[in-house]
Amino acid sequence: MAGVRFAEAIPIRVEHTNLTGTMSEAVLSQEERPAPSAAHAAVVIPAAGRGVRLGPGAPKALRTLGGTPMLIHAVRAMAASRHVSLVVVVAPPEGVAEVRSLLDSHALPGGAPGGGRAGTDVLVVAGGETRQESVRLGLEALPAGHEVVLVHDAARPLVPVDTVDTVIEAVRDGAPAVVPALPPADTVKEVEPAAVAGVPEPVVATPERARLRAVQTPQGFDRTTLLRAHKEVDGEVTDDASMVERLGLRVVTVPGHEEAFKVTRPLDLVLAEAVLARRRRNDGF
Ligand code: CTP
Ligand code: MG
Repeated sequence: MAGVRFAEAIPIRVEHTNLTGTMSEAVLSQEERPAPSAAHAAVVIPAAGRGVRLGPGAPKALRTLGGTPMLIHAVRAMAASRHVSLVVVVAPPEGVAEVRSLLDSHALPGGAPGGGRAGTDVLVVAGGETRQESVRLGLEALPAGHEVVLVHDAARPLVPVDTVDTVIEAVRDGAPAVVPALPPADTVKEVEPAAVAGVPEPVVATPERARLRAVQTPQGFDRTTLLRAHKEVDGEVTDDASMVERLGLRVVTVPGHEEAFKVTRPLDLVLAEAVLARRRRNDGF
């Protein structure tokens, strides 16, 4: 696992702080050194899903986009934020070693394992049966500190760094839970779900579209709030913010981005490849 750096083993480094500018670590006294984590965000990336809706093949997070595993894109997207100092990857239980070696072999020139900027630590832990359980296992691996914690789907590999920063800033500004969101393009119906796929389903209601938002990740939280939600809330949920809602706490949206879409079905892979190709053409990404 050489190269995947464990937060506990990493000395305080200066790459992430505005306060220290270009000063080298060696010239900072213990008192001058910034707290390594409190001011910075940690990100948990659940990547332990099978990707059933994508069809047969490797676990979704390990499938490639533009020749690079989706998970690596997702780690890079988080590490691209100067506010992120730790990424916890939650890998398929049988794929932990493979994920560690993938992270080792995808450093950017001068960058950290996983392709982040130098200074982003990456931890890998095994996931669980459900997304919720995988996130909880990732949270259990978080070292002390990190007042802001994000949860980001490996299946949203192309989220722009501006969206990540917007979420972090909103949490820093005092919101306990923040979700990037977009107005849905489609009208949405509530139905009485049929037991079998494909049969007609009675429509129950049509929520007013102007009041609806489709939510994305990374979702950002005040650390205490997210840990409490995962400790106290049971039952099926599909995102972390809804657990905070169940605690009766305030969740707010910030603008999401169309490139933060989730790769779920085969057509999404086509779109993701096209977005990557456009980025590579436009800015040599
Ligand atoms: N996830 C996870 N652990 C699980 C299930 C899901 O870490 N037991 C992660 C996925 O890897 C993904 C994110 O949660 O990054 C969002 O889930 P989804 O898009 O549903 O991915 P999958 O569960 O892999 O896909 P599917 O539901 O089609 O099997
Ligand atoms: Mg799933």
